[in-house]
Order: sequence, then C-alpha cells, then structure tokens
Amino acid sequence: MSLNAFPKRIRPRVRVNEPLGRRTTLRVGGPAEYFVEAMSLRDVADTVQASRELGLPLHVIGGGSNLLVADAGVQGVVLSLHGMKKINVFGSKVHVQAGANLSTLVNRCSSEGVAGPQSLAGIPGSVGGALAMNAGGRYGEIADYVERVIWINPKGELESRYREELEFGYRSSELRKGVVIEAVLQGSIGDRGELIAQGREILQQKLAAQPYSEFSAGCTFKNPKGQSAGRMIDMAGCKGLRVGGAMVSNRHGNFVINTGDARAHDVLELMSQVATRVFEVHGVELQPEVQLWPCRSLLAA
Ligand code: EPU
Repeated sequence: MSLNAFPKRIRPRVRVNEPLGRRTTLRVGGPAEYFVEAMSLRDVADTVQASRELGLPLHVIGGGSNLLVADAGVQGVVLSLHGMKKINVFGSKVHVQAGANLSTLVNRCSSEGVAGPQSLAGIPGSVGGALAMNAGGRYGEIADYVERVIWINPKGELESRYREELEFGYRSSELRKGVVIEAVLQGSIGDRGELIAQGREILQQKLAAQPYSEFSAGCTFKNPKGQSAGRMIDMAGCKGLRVGGAMVSNRHGNFVINTGDARAHDVLELMSQVATRVFEVHGVELQPEVQLWPCRSLLAA
C-alpha cells in the first residue's frame, strides 16, 4: 500500500518505515510501517478513521517505557500523541492531555499544590500510556486520581467516561482498546513545599532500588498475587543472566537491561529463560508486564 492511500489531510503527518527503537526506553526494535505524530484531536480522529478504512492495525505509542518492539517492527499504523501535552490546573482538578509526560504532570501538581499524583513520582512514560495500563507502584496507581477520561472508544467514537465506568485493574484498563485523548484528574489541596519533598522522597526510593540510568522497559513481569516477581527472579539466581546484549539487572531482578547492542530477540529469549527458571524454582508462571509488539506468547519465543 502506498502513502497515497491515506486521506490528503493526514498524509503530511504520516512517515513510512519509521524506526521505533529510539522511541522506546529499552532502545530495541524495528520500524513502524506507518507512523503518525498527532498534534490535535483532529489528527487523531483522522488517523483512527484512515486506519479503519484501509484495514490497517492501529497501535498507540506512549512514552515507550513499557514496550518491547520486535526486530521486524510492526505492520500497520503507530500513532503518537507526543505533540499533545497540555496540562491545566483548576484548584484541585487537573486537565491533562495524553501526550504529557507523567513526571512533568507530577511536578506540576506539586508546584501548584495539588496533592495525590506524587505517589506516581519516578514512573516514566506518558499520561495516556499510564492510563491505558493503570501505571502505579507501592504508593498508588493513576486510577486513584481519575475523575474522567476522554478517549476514542473501540467503535471509533469520541467519548467521555467517568472512573466508575472504566475497568481499571492491576496494570490494566480497557482504555488500551482505544485511544486516550485527555483526562481530568482529581487531587486534593496540599502544601507545595511538602508535596515537592514527598515527590522527591518517592523518586529517591526508586533510584536506590532500580537501575534508573540503564536502558530498560521497567518491570518486565507482573507481580504474581501477593508476591514480588523481582524477588522470585533474584532467588532463582537469574541476576546477571545474559542473552546477547540483554541482561537481567544486578540491581533489581525484574528489570531486563539493554547493555548496548541488544536485539528484541535477545530480550525475548532472556525473558523466556527467566520465566522457565522461576517456574522450576517457585512453580509460578510469570506473566509479562511489558507490552510485546506485535503480541506474542513467551512460550513461543
Ligand atoms: N527484591 C529482591 N530482589 C530483587 C528485587 C526486589 O529481593 O532483585 C525484594 C525487595 O527487596 C522488596 C521486594 O522484593 O522487599 C519488592 O521489591 P520492590 O519494592 O522493588 O517492588 P516490586 O514489587 O519489585 C513494584 C512495581 C514497580 C514499582 C515498585 C515500587 C510491579 C511489577 N512492579 O515492584 O513497578 O516501581 O513496586 O513502587 O508491579 C513497573 O511497573 O515497571 C515497575 C517497575
């Protein structure tokens, strides 16, 4: 299919064979067949409609911080909302566009005296991605602060939904099935100085426990109920295990790091070896937290 198949209005925004690795924090993976950087709701709507009409699969890329793209890349359209990142604060309510950086949001909340989202300090990624996977950590998850989300639903309609109407789970939400455009978050009024200090403290804890300065996709596997995947991987003796340029971090067992020249194939093979060892030692099947593009089963890796 040629670029000319795309409607004229959106064509200038479409790039062909756009490398995706550099748009992910793991820095691996091949190109997107078509890549669109949306600057407005109109661009997003046009891209969704064009993908449907052309029968192309549509993928949304956020901050690329929880993403493993296959070496062969992905077919279809990859949509980025990186150009839509406005944040407006009204008292304890925050209107934020999907492309905003989550840490920019946290800092802005602190400096404007909005309490709550500090619990998300140190989590990388975009607000849209954080909502789609209900990002969180020890101190809470983004769903805790959602009043409503405006998204393009799986039927292709622009819709506003209140938190009660959205299914948020552990690192999951139904927003993944559509395109998040914007959210209204509800915090409470707090003291600016205290909030800034609180955000810094949570960030420091993460810096101490996680390989922050390395290329990684954050936690690789979900925590099995009541257990820590990182600890299980550590106890199974997997720290330092390597396949090609991919290595299990010596600092935190649930992080796979790219030591420089890793390929997606190395990362998948390493994940598979780790899952096998953990199963042998603990009898538990780890499930990936990192998104695999295109979707594939670890067992087939
Ligand atoms: N631990 C080990 N060895 C390790 C790693 C951890 O013994 O190699 C122990 C720790 O000492 C601690 C326990 O395991 O006693 C739990 O570890 P940690 O506090 O690091 O938390 P986690 O359960 O491994 C979760 C989230 C992280 C989030 C942290 C802190 C998941 C899968 N992971 O990790 O989220 O940053 O809590 O809030 O839910 C992510 O989602 O990408 C992510 C990194």
